[in-house]
Amino acid sequence: MARIAIFTEDPGWHGAQLRNVFASKGYLAEYVSLTDCKITVEPDQLPVIIPGFEQSLPDAVFVRGVPGGSLEEVVFYLDILHALKLLQVPVYNDARAIERSVDKAMTSLLLKQSGLPTPPTWVVRDRSQALAIAEKELRNGHRLLTKPLFGSQGEGIRRIEKMTDLFWLASSHGVYYLQRFVDCGETGYSDWRVFIINGRVIGTMRRHGVCWLNNVARGAKCEAVQFDTEMSDLAMAATKALNMDYAGVDIICEAQGNHQIIEVNSIPAWKGLQSVCHVDVAELLVEDLVGRYLANAAPWVEAIS
Ligand SMILES: Nc1ncnc2c1ncn2[C@@H]1O[C@H](COP(=O)(O)OP(=O)(O)O)[C@@H](O)[C@H]1O
Ligand SMILES: [Mg+2]
Repeated sequence: MARIAIFTEDPGWHGAQLRNVFASKGYLAEYVSLTDCKITVEPDQLPVIIPGFEQSLPDAVFVRGVPGGSLEEVVFYLDILHALKLLQVPVYNDARAIERSVDKAMTSLLLKQSGLPTPPTWVVRDRSQALAIAEKELRNGHRLLTKPLFGSQGEGIRRIEKMTDLFWLASSHGVYYLQRFVDCGETGYSDWRVFIINGRVIGTMRRHGVCWLNNVARGAKCEAVQFDTEMSDLAMAATKALNMDYAGVDIICEAQGNHQIIEVNSIPAWKGLQSVCHVDVAELLVEDLVGRYLANAAPWVEAIS
């Protein structure tokens, strides 16, 4: 009788998709918020208490969201994911993968270390250092983006185009993340989202932003694209570099034709991708999790056939 916890604050469309697919395979999936979980260090107690799973831990957890909060809160949520893995509960994607990708500095560093193309990036604490880097970049004819270290869905990203923009150069919680802006040329703004599951590309789309932010959450339009070997190879290599079960990889094609990896998402949404491609993303995700991690766990008896 296998039961799955889907960690999410807001199950929405994605949660429902996952839950239905789990049910169709005979697994009962429950939505749980990481904010409601507990760590206990007491004799004869489960070390991690998850609402609805007080008697026994879930057979696997699917992480659809890690809430924001203070550093302590976020560390605590990640502690729960780490603890579950220590307790032999499969965590999809696991805490290490989430840590590596939620932290944009670490993502950039790991991509570079793996020899993958990613734009020049600087992460500094000191404002005068940030200003010096930005001034140098502008003098050399480049534009820059500043990003929150832990941002998502395009939130808090600013573009620096000219020296006067430097007046409002601001850190995000004390850290400056500066990245050279990749110009994709005359074709307007767009980037690619490549979705990888267990090392394979399962879908690719092009996102056309209303402005230079190509996030679907910022109104970008999704377009189906043909399979592209170079793009696919890069996305697979990036996912491997960050050691993820599945990932949504953002890639921009420079005006000169070079590809640059921007981001590797460990908790990617797939509603936009699903709208333009023929694969059933939730089905493939659940198949992968069940096939690789739940081979020995019997499905729930009252399965929907
Ligand atoms: N260096 C860059 N050059 C050009 N566009 C970028 C660059 N970095 C990010 N963008 C654009 O901004 C979007 C959001 O940036 P990203 O780093 O993926 O942060 P988020 O986690 O908020 O999605 C990207 O999808 C891309 O369209
Ligand atoms: Mg992104």
